[in-house]
Amino acid sequence: MAAKVAPSLLSADFSKLRDEVKLIEEHGAEWVHLDIMDGHFVPAITIGPLVVKALRPHTGLFMDAHLMVSEPENQIGSFVEAGIDLLTVQAETTVHLDRTLRKIKDHGIKAGAALNPATSPDVLEYVWPLLDLVLVMSVNPGAGGQEFIPAVMPKIKAVSEQIRSRGLSTELEVDGGINRDNARDIIDAGATILVAGSAVFKAENGMALIREVAGHGQ
Ligand code: DX5
Ligand code: ZN
Repeated sequence: MAAKVAPSLLSADFSKLRDEVKLIEEHGAEWVHLDIMDGHFVPAITIGPLVVKALRPHTGLFMDAHLMVSEPENQIGSFVEAGIDLLTVQAETTVHLDRTLRKIKDHGIKAGAALNPATSPDVLEYVWPLLDLVLVMSVNPGAGGQEFIPAVMPKIKAVSEQIRSRGLSTELEVDGGINRDNARDIIDAGATILVAGSAVFKAENGMALIREVAGHGQ
């Protein structure tokens, strides 16, 4: 099965984000992953809709926003207005997951739910029809450059099996600690989108990973 890399800008050079986005595009990326942190759900603060809006005219990449923010339902309109293509909320951050996913989709963009390493996919049981994407976190959210947590492998397989058995076309994104050494196993477990920050922007020959992953399974 083919998979793609969604490079995470978190590990890019923030003094030249437009160039970094162009660079991943030149190396064959189709998606760009934007990590939005609020200093509350996670300690770090990163970027918000203003940066998304500033980048939007400079790229045709599919903009994938991963909201690591409390009460994400209050942020949907501003990200949509900024030009985001997909909004993923952490399932732990919203009491009303069904309502939040519907609100995203009512804006005409795609919706996803992310699961912390300790969160069971059971929370998705009644919202499957609303999900364009499930994001399985393979590190605890909050920072790039962490180690992949192997205990999430069975969860990747379980979510993949749910998607397959329900006949859905939901994307299965895995995020955190992904590199050249473990990408193949994660794809084999069922991932369709691999988020990679440090492995793309900080590793030697990291940009080549984008085409290497796209070539798997072809
Ligand atoms: C972590 C973020 C990830 C992170 C991945 O909270 O959601 O997207 O940037 O970075 P690497 O690939 O370095 O683990
Ligand atoms: Zn992320």
